[in-house]
Amino acid sequence: MAVGAGFSFFPTRLSLNHPKATATATATVRTRICRCALKAAEMTVSITGATGFIGRRLVQKLLSDDHKVCVLTRSATKAASVFPPSAYPGIRIAELEDWEQCVKGSTAVVNLAGMPISTRWSPQIKREIMQSRINATSKVVDHINNAGADARPSVFVSATAIGYYGTSETNSFDETSPSGNDYLAEVCREWEGRARQVNEEDVRLVLLRIGVVLGKDGGALAKMIPLFMMFAGGPLGTGRQWFSWIHVDDLVDLIYESLKNPAYRGVINGTAPNPVRLSEMCERLGQVMGRPSWLPVPELALKAVLGEGATVVLEGQKVLPVRASQLGFSYRYPYVGDALKAIAKDLVP
Ligand SMILES: NC(=O)c1ccc[n+]([C@@H]2O[C@H](COP(=O)([O-])OP(=O)(O)OC[C@H]3O[C@@H](n4cnc5c(N)ncnc54)[C@H](OP(=O)(O)O)[C@@H]3O)[C@@H](O)[C@H]2O)c1
Repeated sequence: MAVGAGFSFFPTRLSLNHPKATATATATVRTRICRCALKAAEMTVSITGATGFIGRRLVQKLLSDDHKVCVLTRSATKAASVFPPSAYPGIRIAELEDWEQCVKGSTAVVNLAGMPISTRWSPQIKREIMQSRINATSKVVDHINNAGADARPSVFVSATAIGYYGTSETNSFDETSPSGNDYLAEVCREWEGRARQVNEEDVRLVLLRIGVVLGKDGGALAKMIPLFMMFAGGPLGTGRQWFSWIHVDDLVDLIYESLKNPAYRGVINGTAPNPVRLSEMCERLGQVMGRPSWLPVPELALKAVLGEGATVVLEGQKVLPVRASQLGFSYRYPYVGDALKAIAKDLVP
């Protein structure tokens, strides 16, 4: 049978053996296949924590590539101020009671929600840091698992953090390393444990252990920059602590790749391939901010802006993105100097 003969939109007046007919049919089939491929590539992504530092960049990237986004938020009013309907007409915003409906219509879910850790850690706050992550994760996992086969998202990308490994000045960690035994390690284990309750027979799970995300609009760096402007921008403490960082654009690319690429599965460290000692990070930051790096930034000042969350910066760990390298992920910013330069360029008025 001639290619395409079974398609109802095939031009009937030409004989199927006619070369022109065969060419037309082949072209039509190609167009069809292309359209199908495009259709398959088009995603509807539900995102918790979409209003945050990382989420906002992810939403922009998805929309710029013509995907659909559903913002799963605690407050539609806040979300509408982050994504004004006039500027983001294609976005759907859903408060808690509508999360289920959104998840069920989505091809993928990204889970970024969690109370910021850069605060003073009272026992109450520590509970909230843990609970906020567990609650949001449990909720989306339940919605995914309860969805029927025809409405079930096929990918679940859930954030966690390199705090999973604990801190060390001497060891390096990859995805196979055991967990640490401090508070943040415990939070990450619980958080990951909830995400792992997704039905992995039907849903591809990616757990991204995210490092310190560098960008001008949020995270630790946004809080550190004014400090570096105030002081000369020198080292913190001994400076020997490891700083495992990633530029926000690389992290967003990594999330995006995790959504699209079936080879991305399981735990993947979301860090750049070249972690640095904190002394180097401070020196580079001093350089790009135009501050000489001889006057140390007092730890107390950093703790004042980052709270106990400063331990992430002051203690640190060397985390290597072994899985991302195996998967051939290509970093825009493999070196911290280039990442900081790009961020500083955006800061210049
Ligand atoms: N930034 C980093 O350097 C870094 C490093 C490692 C891991 N991570 C993890 O990656 C995720 C995203 O990071 P981010 O920097 O984009 O965070 P973020 O800017 O603090 O945003 C997180 C979002 O979580 C939601 N949220 C805040 N407090 C909450 C609470 N008490 N209960 C439930 N939801 C709450 C908020 O969304 P709504 O108000 O819309 O609900 C908020 O926009 C976080 O889970 C974070 O722990 C970040």
